[in-house]
Amino acid sequence: MKIAFVGKGGSGKTTLSSLFIRHLATTGAPVVAVDADINQHLGAALGLDEAEAAALPAMGDRLPLIKDYLRGSNPRITSTETMIKTTPPGEGSRLLRVCEDNPVYDACARPVELDGGAVRLMVTGPFTDADLGVACYHSKTGAVELCLNHLVDGQGEYVVVDMTAGSDSFASGMFTRFDITFLVAEPTLKGVSVYRQYKEYARDFGVVLKVVGNKVQGADDLDFLRAEVGDDLLMTVGHSDWVRAMEKGRPPRFELLEDANLRALRALQVAADATYELRDRERYTRQMVHFHLKNAASWGDARTGADLAAQVDPGFVLGEGVAASA
Ligand SMILES: Nc1ncnc2c1ncn2[C@@H]1O[C@H](COP(=O)(O)OP(=O)(O)OP(=O)(O)O)[C@@H](O)[C@H]1O
Ligand SMILES: [Mg+2]
Repeated sequence: MKIAFVGKGGSGKTTLSSLFIRHLATTGAPVVAVDADINQHLGAALGLDEAEAAALPAMGDRLPLIKDYLRGSNPRITSTETMIKTTPPGEGSRLLRVCEDNPVYDACARPVELDGGAVRLMVTGPFTDADLGVACYHSKTGAVELCLNHLVDGQGEYVVVDMTAGSDSFASGMFTRFDITFLVAEPTLKGVSVYRQYKEYARDFGVVLKVVGNKVQGADDLDFLRAEVGDDLLMTVGHSDWVRAMEKGRPPRFELLEDANLRALRALQVAADATYELRDRERYTRQMVHFHLKNAASWGDARTGADLAAQVDPGFVLGEGVAASA
């Protein structure tokens, strides 16, 4: 299951994704955690110290390796240089699975021990001003998008991405790559304005978007969120002393997280699991092709000097287990 946490800066994306990852780890489920936010804090939120977090390999620096591996023997992708972040898999491509060892995980993922089990952590690497300027080609999140487009994940396996609700995700189609998107919103006008923007982009693509209220105190906050986002409000999380203690470098055992917050995390998992039935593999593949053609026309063809539309394998559908090729 592919799950994104998005929302306004400071809303609690990293905090809630890290709590959700910790919760999943206690269930014994396999988890790949991905930090794709501009501010790279997921490692710290999962308990890594500064030196450990700084030592994490950046996916953005390993794009050539990632592309080379995923390209495999796909004859439609003639070189690693012509593979852009939206290049879809086709016959001959290598796919990624949550539970396996592969060169991409070897290069980009590191195990993080949590109460109850270890998860794999991958990070895009910190964004620089240059990344934000030319987000199309050198995009850090491009590595994540490539991986998601080549991932065959099953029920009970989780990829949790701490994302930023930025323009890059909308331009590239990254926002359509998830089974469910949790939009973290504080009960403020600014918090819900990001929700409205997201909803707008998501509408035509069948994106499952649910709001998780954060730092919600009392009935007035709850009423505000209900009034602003209606049925999209899945669940709210209050102030957490557990989170505060963790921020002071003294994380208590996870089972000591407040009951109400533990219940909220379980509800997020239930909501995520329920989306499995909604999966539409043809649509998922069609959308990646749609965004690839868009990117090819707007900058990719010019940048690579190739006709990137020719990379599309018309008979290919990204499916579970084996790659289905008609
Ligand atoms: N439920 C909570 N209880 C207590 N503190 C919280 C809670 N949620 C978030 N915080 C605190 O609020 C601050 C911002 O949260 P966080 O870093 O998760 O937000 P973010 O959306 O990831 O921010 P950024 O956009 O900078 O990445 C952190 O100091 C975090 O510890
Ligand atoms: Mg963050």
